[in-house]
Amino acid sequence: MTITIGVTGRDGQTRSIAAAEGITLMEAIRDEGFDELLALCGGCCSCATCHVHIDNGFEDRILPVSGDENDLLDSSDFRNATSRLSCQIVLSPELDGLAVTIAPED
Ligand code: FES
Repeated sequence: MTITIGVTGRDGQTRSIAAAEGITLMEAIRDEGFDELLALCGGCCSCATCHVHIDNGFEDRILPVSGDENDLLDSSDFRNATSRLSCQIVLSPELDGLAVTIAPED
């Protein structure tokens, strides 16, 4: 199944992207050319440069924040109640229609 996601970049523009089930949100965003999502650690949950905010109340559909993810998010000045590391979100059919904004650069 293809998952449709609304992604707002740091330029404020929102684009709808389509991604394959089973890849991570970070991979989906990177594959669409949003280069500002650096994802420096490649998805190992050790850099926090894949930080996004969930815009449309889908937090409940995503697995809870792990201890490592929580620690990394705490290192960001831009953490809010909807912050997640996009490499820790595996795309599943329940996430079709997800909307996220790439967090500002720390
Ligand atoms: S890509 Fe490094 S923590 Fe997500």
